[in-house]
Amino acid sequence: MLCERAMDNKLGIKTRGIREYVGRNHGFNRYEATSYRALKALLSHYRFAKNSRLVDFGCGKGRVLFYLHHRLGIPVVGVEGDHETYLDALRNKASYQAKHPHPQEDIILEYCFAEVYKIKPDENVFFFFNPFDLVTFREVVLNIIESYGLYPRRMDIILYYPYPDYEKFLWHNTDFKPRQKISWGASDKYEKFLIFRLE
Ligand SMILES: C[S@@+](CC[C@H](N)C(=O)[O-])C[C@H]1O[C@@H](n2cnc3c(N)ncnc32)[C@H](O)[C@@H]1O
Repeated sequence: MLCERAMDNKLGIKTRGIREYVGRNHGFNRYEATSYRALKALLSHYRFAKNSRLVDFGCGKGRVLFYLHHRLGIPVVGVEGDHETYLDALRNKASYQAKHPHPQEDIILEYCFAEVYKIKPDENVFFFFNPFDLVTFREVVLNIIESYGLYPRRMDIILYYPYPDYEKFLWHNTDFKPRQKISWGASDKYEKFLIFRLE
């Protein structure tokens, strides 16, 4: 779509397209970016706090990170488990930096599996666009809850195009409470954000 290309150009990044993985286990989903249309809707309806620090689990080529950093100036972290995709994210970080200079520490990219990522005490917004199966999602959410136990703070989980399994798990197995649903009149019923909060 024109908007996708234009916004990538504005940010100085390349995030379009789909990358299917061959030989990966079944629970490791392909790369595809959250649409800019969806991200604009998120910004219109969800209030990020001044101290928001977002982690995108399965950040792919980093679109969510660069877009939110550009629009809000919040620090962001991307965790990516596929090496080729991680290298694409690193290249995007360099080209975004060239076009929109900012302190290096504002955007951190980690090459590791989401389920082993060590959550930092100041990270408080966790973004998921269906990166993996429920088994891995459960492990990551338990890590988030463990971090809350050590450093209690308001935490939000943002699900884009949510798998019903993710939603059910948060409803029935955690203290995260449904907080907000953001949709924008798309005919596809999954085309929405669901936000869950723990506080
Ligand atoms: C649907 S894409 C989402 C990309 C990005 N979050 C966005 O919304 O634009 C899912 C990404 O998760 C990554 N992924 C899958 N399983 C993972 C895991 N266990 N740990 C880290 N990344 C993973 C894939 O390589 C892919 O890049």
